[in-house]
Amino acid sequence: MAEDFKVTPWEVTGDIDYDRLMKNFGTTPIDDALLKRLGKYGEVHPMLRRGIFYCHRDLNLLLDQYDKGNKFCLYTGRGPSGNTHLGHLMPWIFNKWVQDTFKVPMLFQMTDDEKFLFKDLTLQDTRSLAYENALDFVALGFDPDNTKIILDSECIKTLYPISLKVAKHVTFSTAKAVFGFDNSTNIGSIFFTTIQAAPAFLPTEQSGKQVPCLIPCGIDQDPHFRVARDVAPGLNYPKPTMMYCKMFPGLSGGDKMSSSDPMATVYTTDKPKEVKKKVGRAFTGGCVTVEEQRAKGGNPEVCAVFKYNYYLFEKDDAKVNEMAEKCRNGEILCGECKMALTNKINVFLEEHQAKREEAREVVDGMTFEGFKW
Ligand code: TRP
Repeated sequence: MAEDFKVTPWEVTGDIDYDRLMKNFGTTPIDDALLKRLGKYGEVHPMLRRGIFYCHRDLNLLLDQYDKGNKFCLYTGRGPSGNTHLGHLMPWIFNKWVQDTFKVPMLFQMTDDEKFLFKDLTLQDTRSLAYENALDFVALGFDPDNTKIILDSECIKTLYPISLKVAKHVTFSTAKAVFGFDNSTNIGSIFFTTIQAAPAFLPTEQSGKQVPCLIPCGIDQDPHFRVARDVAPGLNYPKPTMMYCKMFPGLSGGDKMSSSDPMATVYTTDKPKEVKKKVGRAFTGGCVTVEEQRAKGGNPEVCAVFKYNYYLFEKDDAKVNEMAEKCRNGEILCGECKMALTNKINVFLEEHQAKREEAREVVDGMTFEGFKW
């Protein structure tokens, strides 16, 4: 069936129908029963309550194990192809909540190799971008004693034996079918998925025991982990458990914040003036004139400013609902909403940027096997 959207690890375009995507990929919705179960471990994160982290694979099995005392390892990652923006922070903030709630170790993979292979970037480019991205990751406050950053080109000696085992179980025709590769694809790209699988199996490999792995990330990464899950039983590794989120929207109304549209993208290093300018130009659900909006109201559903509050910047559910209500009633205008959001983002970024500077002192202490940047 032809779709009017596309979601792959390397390309996200169109108007994403997340329910259809879930069906196409064969993931399971995070339903009320599961939310209730998660509530036993601590306050359920707003991203779960609001359906932003919205589907999973085998989360119940992982929780069964946890309840029996078999702790899991958390794993997520970043492909360092550019500077960090708010869309990248969103799933990391969620991962931090998981680490705090379940008190588990965290592996953060930085795929400098992937971005070298798939983009027009040198290995030096992707390495220095990885460092910049790592500062943002560390700034979020992950437990320094329980978090390790893997930079692929540095840590390959540890990943490689696992990658090889995975590679032996993945045929070229599977790689073509899952990722859409063809005869013009460079051969590094074809092998790469084995490198992204490796950290999920690393704790099991190193401890000699079956260590469950939880990977909360954007749903665009599912193709990699379908492959990893398929080969796991044959290698005597536990299948990784997945939790997937929707893409963080762009300010211009698109479904995904993307560096290809820098004016619709808020970077973690943006200054207050830039944020003001970008939010000022954001796509909203408002009417053309003030009179019309007072009379007819706006549409928060399509509004990027509202989405930013919903996804990240307003944690209080009552306030989010009130915001939507007031917009629909024409009680509040786009200018006011934009100003309020600009302030929230700037308050957040001021603190984040300070922590990002402090991260320079600690990032080397959090690298896997102590590699130096
Ligand atoms: N391929 C991912 C990206 O381009 C990076 C990545 C590596 C990742 N391992 C991961 C993302 C595990 C999520 C989970 O961003």
